[in-house]
Amino acid sequence: MTSEPRILIAPSILAADFANLGRQVEEATQAGADLIHVDVMDGTFVPNISFGEVVIDAVRRHTELPLNIHLMVEEPGKLMPSFQKATTDQVIVHAEACTHLHRTVFQVKEKGAEVGVALNPGTPVSAVEEVLPYLDMVLVMTVNPGFGGQSFIPETVSKIRRLRELIEEKGYSAQVEVDGGIKADYTAEESVKAGATILVAGTAIFNREETVWAATAKLRGCVCGLRYVR
Ligand code: DX5
Ligand code: ZN
Repeated sequence: MTSEPRILIAPSILAADFANLGRQVEEATQAGADLIHVDVMDGTFVPNISFGEVVIDAVRRHTELPLNIHLMVEEPGKLMPSFQKATTDQVIVHAEACTHLHRTVFQVKEKGAEVGVALNPGTPVSAVEEVLPYLDMVLVMTVNPGFGGQSFIPETVSKIRRLRELIEEKGYSAQVEVDGGIKADYTAEESVKAGATILVAGTAIFNREETVWAATAKLRGCVCGLRYVR
């Protein structure tokens, strides 16, 4: 059995030039990005601090695209009350960071946002199984979270495939998103063939070697015509 959903590209602003963040978000939007991936890090769940609601609000003023907000924070449910304009957003929480994952998933849904759950490389697919019917996406971390520019972990490809198989078998609608080390090479290709439909890319989109436009076109061209084959 095969399916051919559109492959969505989500540039991660973690790799952007923060002194020109608005312009970089506009460039990604004009280059044909489908989502803007926004990495929130608290320095506790991951060993790095990035930014929070103030920057997210600033990003919103520079794009109409949905924000794909990746919360790498402990107990993200505590942050939910501060998300004021979540209706066009997609909010992704980590399974490992939520004591009450089911409750947190529904807290996001009550805000009107789409909801996703992220899995670290060492976390099994089973960690998300009980909430899978309610999810819009599952984010498979293809590096350990916390930093951009890391190398793709090849062993995560079989996990992408197992997750996709479970979703198809149960008839759920969750998309499979991959994040970490995704470039216009085998990393994107193998992820898509294994069942990913959302590709997050930080340094592959925002770098000094090429324009955001060229980098986005290259990534899209790399996966053009590829699809999940069961
Ligand atoms: C890492 C973040 C990623 C990061 C990806 O913890 O979740 O979104 O920005 O960066 P690249 O694509 O450079 O690996
Ligand atoms: Zn991310």
